[in-house]
Amino acid sequence: MPSRRLLLAQAAALAGAALTPAAWTSAAARTRTPDDPFRLGVASGEPAPDGMVLWTRLAPQPHDMGAGMTSAPVAVSWEIAEDPQLKRTAARGRAIAVVDAGHSVHVEVAGLKPDREYWYRFTALGHASPIGRTRTAPAAGASVQRLRLAYGSCQKYSAGHYTAHAALAKDDLDLVLFLGDYIYEEAHTGKGPRAHPAAEPLDLAGYRHRYAWYKADLNLQAAHACAPWMVIWDDHEVVNDYGADQDRTNPDPARFLKRRAAAYQAYYENMPLRRTQKPVGPDMLLHRSLAWGDLAAFQFLDTRQHRNRRTCDAVSDGKLIPYDCPERLDPSRSLLGRGQETWLQDALRGSRANWNVLAQQYLLEEVFTAPGKLSNDGWSGYPATRQRLIQAWQDAAVSNPLVLGGDIHCFFAGELAARPGGKPVASEFVGGSISSLGRANSDIHRLVAANPSLKFGDGEQRGYGRVEITPKACRVTFRAVADALVAGSPVTDLARFVVEAGEPGLKTA
Ligand SMILES: [Fe+2]
Repeated sequence: MPSRRLLLAQAAALAGAALTPAAWTSAAARTRTPDDPFRLGVASGEPAPDGMVLWTRLAPQPHDMGAGMTSAPVAVSWEIAEDPQLKRTAARGRAIAVVDAGHSVHVEVAGLKPDREYWYRFTALGHASPIGRTRTAPAAGASVQRLRLAYGSCQKYSAGHYTAHAALAKDDLDLVLFLGDYIYEEAHTGKGPRAHPAAEPLDLAGYRHRYAWYKADLNLQAAHACAPWMVIWDDHEVVNDYGADQDRTNPDPARFLKRRAAAYQAYYENMPLRRTQKPVGPDMLLHRSLAWGDLAAFQFLDTRQHRNRRTCDAVSDGKLIPYDCPERLDPSRSLLGRGQETWLQDALRGSRANWNVLAQQYLLEEVFTAPGKLSNDGWSGYPATRQRLIQAWQDAAVSNPLVLGGDIHCFFAGELAARPGGKPVASEFVGGSISSLGRANSDIHRLVAANPSLKFGDGEQRGYGRVEITPKACRVTFRAVADALVAGSPVTDLARFVVEAGEPGLKTA
């Protein structure tokens, strides 16, 4: 075991270094001894006015099955301070990393001051982690003048580099939202600029291994180290296009639920989530709210776990179904499940926030992906849920509703109305994807031209969205990576939009 002196020298070298991707990469490089257990980085999440979750997972050999850990429990110390040099300690403690949790650590810090930055680090097995930056949320109802966040989704490792993460880590953010497809479960085909082991994960060991492979990426680590994250999943954290207990390729629900339990457990272990989110068998509570003073309230949706079964399979072509398939319109079917819909309606009714942001997985607007055909995988397979949501925004006179989404590997900006062609009720901003491949712009531009509620679409650029919310306006910038197949490719603004408070609908800026 390295001496305490080595540990202290390492810690001093790393202090205050983890605030840019370049600094994170060099700090991480300095600790990359063969027995360094912090090779998956550090993360924080679930910011509250008095604290947040601090996360790490011990993995000295991220690319090996078992990540180089034995079954022995390991003591992990943590500290959080008011300064980047960790001199003004605000709290510290010890956690135990156990094999049953994949040697992950989730520390729920409390007792901190609202609306301020903090810095944190872990030590274990004679090593110190690089330092991460995080922050607390503003006090409940406090007057807040600005919130800066980035959102992303769909980071297929084999499809591209995480240049978008390196860019957002430099954006001086209060918050990062990840809207799903953090990993892809698919077997590696040999295509794309980066490889991981071929086998598709089917059990807990397999999913842990896939997360470790993804999380060893230094740009992803830098993005986690720059700000607290709020995460929701989509389908690929378990398997493509699953819903509830249905897997398209494995029709046995009991067997599928075992796989879902393994996937949810691995998701929990690898994300900075609270104990409230810890899975029980195949069930995990992921929909939840976040308040940012009086400025913004967020609802994070889970559109996979609680939905009713897929519809119109008898007349489907893959996931495409005719728009007039009668089952599709059945009002008893829900994408969210009754419990989550009730929770959402209560949350919207109870919100006093100026901006009300729905963070979810898809494009909410109903668009035809082929003439007369819609996908039965997202909101368009459950139009009554979408209608009830728009109704809830109107009935509760929800202040400035806004939707952020992912899943479809394209950038879209659009408006949502109660009826086609009606007055906009909310605006939505979807995508793009961090690295997953999208669709040709010839298709996307045709789609935008055929759907007047869509104001912008691009399927060829990879990237992320940056959002600045003030009491007067919400500004959204689509950020595009010039070429995600090439590491370190430049990142520029693809499009800019503004939504003025009190005026539903978006303008280009
Ligand atoms: Fe995706």
